[in-house]
Amino acid sequence: MDLRVTTKIQKEYFRKTRRSRDLYERSLSCFPGGISHNIRHFEPYPFYTKSAKGKLLQDVDGNDFTDYWMGHWALLIGHSHPVVASAVRNQASHGTLFGTANKLSLDLAYAIKEGMPRAELIRYSSTGSEATMYAVRLARARTGRRVVAKIVGGWHGYNTNLLQSVNYPFELDEGLGLIEDEEQFVESIPFNDLERSLKVLNTIRDDLACIIVEPVLGGAGCITPERDYLHGLQEFAKSNDALFILDEIVTGFRLSFKGAADEYKLEPDLFTLGKIVGGGLPIGVLCGDKDIMSLCNPVGREKGEIVCYIGGGTFAANPLTMTAGLATLQYLKQNKAVIYPKVNKIGLRIREGLESVFSDAHIDVDITGVGSLFMTHFLNQDIRKISSALDAGLSDKGLLRKYHLALIAKHNIFFLPEKMGAISSVHTMKDAELLIDATQQIVQSHLLSQGA
Ligand SMILES: Cc1ncc(COP(=O)(O)O)c(C=O)c1O
Repeated sequence: MDLRVTTKIQKEYFRKTRRSRDLYERSLSCFPGGISHNIRHFEPYPFYTKSAKGKLLQDVDGNDFTDYWMGHWALLIGHSHPVVASAVRNQASHGTLFGTANKLSLDLAYAIKEGMPRAELIRYSSTGSEATMYAVRLARARTGRRVVAKIVGGWHGYNTNLLQSVNYPFELDEGLGLIEDEEQFVESIPFNDLERSLKVLNTIRDDLACIIVEPVLGGAGCITPERDYLHGLQEFAKSNDALFILDEIVTGFRLSFKGAADEYKLEPDLFTLGKIVGGGLPIGVLCGDKDIMSLCNPVGREKGEIVCYIGGGTFAANPLTMTAGLATLQYLKQNKAVIYPKVNKIGLRIREGLESVFSDAHIDVDITGVGSLFMTHFLNQDIRKISSALDAGLSDKGLLRKYHLALIAKHNIFFLPEKMGAISSVHTMKDAELLIDATQQIVQSHLLSQGA
């Protein structure tokens, strides 16, 4: 491991994270790259979290960080919320994995349907990656077609079907182990460019099974849809007998108690959920139209009739996840009139505050986002506004890493470096001001300058 101190920020980070550094060195002999999820690695090494409560992460060196990563943006009501923690504790003493049908799964399904009535039928899995994989399989089953259209930069988890055009510069293979036979049935279209997207879609319309899209591009840079883009895709899918699938794994129950379909007035045939609806425990959910979802109903089929087998898996609908998800959705429902306006207002203040700090310092940025999600892009080249994954890919990621590490090392504010931030109901307007002040100090002390 090369841990030469090269910058002031790194020096500060080394100083405060000695125990993490030891653990990282040991992790290298246990895990490829020392980590258990690719994106959790950041330079020079990640700190190791010991506990998390509310908006705070505490690491093994005793540092408290105000968290804007919030468990991959899953924790809208904070870490270890008392309501969720106590429900999970109670459930743990009554069983963690029944491996049988259970009423809790029904209770959570009703809670989901309350916010999202388009979830006529529901299938749980343990991850979002599985849910999107099943969505694609079901679309192919329904249409008898093969091709899946996804967005350039769109992220739907690590399932093989959709692991294409994820990382800048997008044209390259996404890694070893993926074969051309699979790739030829995925076509990528540019976000927020309806004309070019339709051009591509028209070339594959006869074999198009579905268009799958995140309503707000998350991993690719927290990019909101331009007016009519998503409607244009939906219309194309519907008028060509393909399915329109909305991946709401980030946006579901985050933009409002409903989600992006409601926000942008969309009518997806299928949609996927995850993150928030698991209440901090593993989950993926595939939801949608009754007729389509019924294709995976294995019960009461005639002999020889073929079903679209989509999983579940050993841990699907396990009572702990169902309990945590239910407690979270019930809490959100009871408090939605306070929570959503609050987190959205903090989000707006942060976007505006950061924009003005950078602009006063003549640093070109675009702070993207919506509601309680936001992301800083340091602009490069001629791009003035981030509208697509390609724009985001061209921004200065090195500077963003430096900024995020400076926040961690100097101000105990945590963003997973290079990733968007998410606000929870336990963040306050004071946290927003602290983040804006911290950014101002970083800018004023020239920590983002070259060689600093
Ligand atoms: C939009 C979207 N879809 C799917 C996934 C995959 O979910 P999971 O990580 O639970 O497999 C993610 C994860 O970040 C996501 O952001």
